[in-house]
Amino acid sequence: MTKLHGMGSLTRKPIESILEEAGKSDGTLKRVLGPWHLVALGIGAIIGSGIFVLTGQAAAQYAGPSITLSFVLAAFASGLAGLCYAEFAAMLPISGSAYTYAYATLGELLAWIIGWDLILEYLFGASAVAVGWSGYVTSFLKDFGLHLPAAFTGPPLQYAADTGFQATGNIINLPAVLIVLLMTSFLVVGIQESAWLNNVAVVSKVAVILAFIAFGYGYVNPENWTPFIPPEGDNFGEFGYGGILRGAGVIFFAYIGFDAVSTTAQEAKNPQKDMPVGILGSLVVCTILYMLVSLVLTGLVHYTQLNVPDPIAVGVNAAGEGLHWLRFPIKLGAIAGLSSVILVLLMGQPRVFFAMAVDGLLPKVFSQLHPRFKTPHITTAVTGGVAAVLAGSLPIGLLGEMVSIGTLLAFVLVCAGILILRYREPERERPFKCPLVPIIPAGGILACFYLMYGLPWHTWERLIAWMIIGFIIYFAYGKKHSKWSRQESSEN
Ligand code: ALA
Repeated sequence: MTKLHGMGSLTRKPIESILEEAGKSDGTLKRVLGPWHLVALGIGAIIGSGIFVLTGQAAAQYAGPSITLSFVLAAFASGLAGLCYAEFAAMLPISGSAYTYAYATLGELLAWIIGWDLILEYLFGASAVAVGWSGYVTSFLKDFGLHLPAAFTGPPLQYAADTGFQATGNIINLPAVLIVLLMTSFLVVGIQESAWLNNVAVVSKVAVILAFIAFGYGYVNPENWTPFIPPEGDNFGEFGYGGILRGAGVIFFAYIGFDAVSTTAQEAKNPQKDMPVGILGSLVVCTILYMLVSLVLTGLVHYTQLNVPDPIAVGVNAAGEGLHWLRFPIKLGAIAGLSSVILVLLMGQPRVFFAMAVDGLLPKVFSQLHPRFKTPHITTAVTGGVAAVLAGSLPIGLLGEMVSIGTLLAFVLVCAGILILRYREPERERPFKCPLVPIIPAGGILACFYLMYGLPWHTWERLIAWMIIGFIIYFAYGKKHSKWSRQESSEN
């Protein structure tokens, strides 16, 4: 029997057992994804509401044209974390992502914290993107004279720092709910079909983004870029340098998704080789595109006008007659593109639940696979249901900030895990090695903390509340049912 390390909440899951589980073929997920699928999956997960919606809102509220610098800052943190992710994903090619990595290195409690945190990334993330999708669909239909009533396309709740939560008078964001339910049903049927759909969506959104950059550039009014960094307001985070930092924390959301690639490691044909290609390749492509899009957008239209549900479309409108032809394809591309993000995020969540249930931290039902489709159909349905409720009731800004802070915390722990494992098990075979250890993982920890620091205090409060709920569940259920802690007690 494999010897366990640590005690109780500090129990670590042996890497051998993780690899053994990954190698089992009965009852596990099908291996169908190649390297291009993975890069496409990464881009599919990354480019979404972050660039299509939050860029405009963050420019208008926090950073102005210097939102482009926020993208550089956020890319820096993501890149450092991405290198750590790639090392882990290649070494531990199993579903569960950062959760599994933490279990092997930081112990059960921290693994639970990460798993709990990843719900913010995947489930809340899918809801946030669905709200963005709804904004573009509403705008698209309006162009065809179909005006959906505001009461059914906006969030019933909103939040402001001075007034707290307030009813908006809206009833439900219906398009957001419907898209989540549609994508959930695709996922229940199976990954192969979903990956194909994802490829179509990725091609369309990359195409419209390239078109926006190439054609929009000619219509830029450089006066919109001055001052590039608007002067600081009364509060921290309103323009100036603090605004660039807060903008980076907010649009960090735009980079989230490359790690969803790692959650499909059990479905990759050759995970050791292809995981790093998938993660890093998709991150590099997206960083370049984001910087160019944000420059063109803030050059086309003054940043003060960008706090809207469809800023890219507003940018195209501002260019005047010459770019009118681009309105239709942009909205269509955004709609298709955002659909693929929702799909990938909704796919990542059940796979994390699956890994947690196999370890006994969640009930067995979470690891049940559909007998024919081989998909985690029950958790997919639960995830979709909860995501639909959130998407139908909350604004994108609030959801996006929760996603950013939760994911940043998960990334901090992943970077720490790389440092710890290099120290504890220096001889272990690493098909992909993060360069410049300890500088890169340590830099990743600092950079992610720095972005968290820039986020508004109410986001921190919600993160703390979320963590307290997580601790209660862990101590009431997970700790008692943990397969590895129980094995440890029987060994002693
Ligand atoms: N990165 C994803 C997006 O921007 C979550 O929508």
